[in-house]
Amino acid sequence: MLLELATNVRLRAYAPYSRFKVGAALRSTSGAAHIGCNVENVAYPEGTCAEAGAIAAMIASGDTAIAEILVIADSPSPVPPCGGCRQKIAEFAAPDVKVTLCTTDGAQLVMTVGDLLPGVFTAAHMAKV
Ligand code: THU
Repeated sequence: MLLELATNVRLRAYAPYSRFKVGAALRSTSGAAHIGCNVENVAYPEGTCAEAGAIAAMIASGDTAIAEILVIADSPSPVPPCGGCRQKIAEFAAPDVKVTLCTTDGAQLVMTVGDLLPGVFTAAHMAKV
């Protein structure tokens, strides 16, 4: 189900500058699915990633915890979330949460949030503040 959702939302990505369309779909712990695509901007740093869009949709719906997430792009190997998105995912997902990286050709790589971001910065690191 997440694969189909991410495949479809990828087609709606706004990526006129990189021409690299990305789709993301996540299931929150409530069971609901949320989707996102990358949305670029002529001021390049203002663009947002597909994962950020899916997370924003989840939060807007009232859900706050990711149970599973999948990302897809037309890349030669399964597309990995960028560093910033790894931190964004880790905000709402436990280290054992499954992350499936996909290509539009059907290749898949299954990882966990902990695999993608070992040594993650967490609120616990601010315990003295
Ligand atoms: N991008 C994503 O949306 N997610 C990823 O996991 C990798 C990169 C987007 C950002 C930008 O719009 C384009 O792909 C090229 O970097």
